[in-house]
Amino acid sequence: MVETALRAQSVRVRVPAKLNLALRVGPRGDDGYHPLATVFHAVSLYDEVVASPAEPGTISLHVSGEGASDVPADSRNLAWQAAQLLADTYGSRAPRHGRRRAAAQLGVRLTIRKAIPVAGGMAGGSGDGAAALLACAVLWDLDADPDDLHELAAQLGSDVPFALVGGTAIGCGRGDRLIPVLSRGCFHWVVVLSEHGLATPDVYRRFDERAQASGPLEVPRPVVDALATGDARALGAALDNDLQEPALDLLPELRHTLAAGHAAGAIGALVSGSGPTCAFLAADESSAVDLSARLSSLGVGKAIRRVAGPVPGARLIS
Ligand code: C5P
Repeated sequence: MVETALRAQSVRVRVPAKLNLALRVGPRGDDGYHPLATVFHAVSLYDEVVASPAEPGTISLHVSGEGASDVPADSRNLAWQAAQLLADTYGSRAPRHGRRRAAAQLGVRLTIRKAIPVAGGMAGGSGDGAAALLACAVLWDLDADPDDLHELAAQLGSDVPFALVGGTAIGCGRGDRLIPVLSRGCFHWVVVLSEHGLATPDVYRRFDERAQASGPLEVPRPVVDALATGDARALGAALDNDLQEPALDLLPELRHTLAAGHAAGAIGALVSGSGPTCAFLAADESSAVDLSARLSSLGVGKAIRRVAGPVPGARLIS
């Protein structure tokens, strides 16, 4: 009886992976972060986070699914940190309006079902943080509006705010300041997951070591124009990632993956974010089916997924 009541109160949130269609990186700042100009694009590969009632003042976490054994199920996990941040924030400060509760009264049992590759450059960990923020805010019935959640998301990590909103958006600053981008139609992608992970700080460090003179820190116009017109071929030709060469330095086998994608008929290819997942653009859905079949037969990567974008960010599901 109690079990049923608790289950009924659980809050389930689905959050998409992201690709960076363009990623321009500036020189490292004094805060250790690099200023970015990027185009985020949410795609239909989802993690699911469930927040269930728990003893007041407790947080617990269980992770299952793709790569779960490589995901910490403790306070190192962004989903856990999201729950803690919400509890601390709403327990210690009066919200702008509405009620206030002690952090000690807020407890949650989080479960994450992973499909987004771990350490894959598709913001899986950030997505789980965003999903946990939304799920806990609903579970605890907090008076948090989207701006409040965005502010907390930015504290958790650079990619977390985008995971809340999804769609296609320009990201500035650390990637946390977002401007929506007009995007027409649907783009079809094949993503190749790598056997290995790449740690984002290592890729940025390699970027620093390469110390190239950087161009202006703005997103390439051809990417924005191709999105506005829904022109997949133009988008494929314009894809651009400053972290690609650093990621290829750290994991040279990715050159083979990118070459295989081109040979298999992709109209655009790039390393996703800090890698090592590689994303290949297809002209349409049936071309994406062909492309993924050809890549499968070539045996590249650990796994291959067909996805489409843009899709909305973290959302409640029944
Ligand atoms: O913000 P987030 O925790 O996702 O970033 C992980 C790491 O990636 C940072 O600690 C930093 O080393 C690097 N990073 C960066 N510049 C950014 C975003 C991330 O150097 N704009």
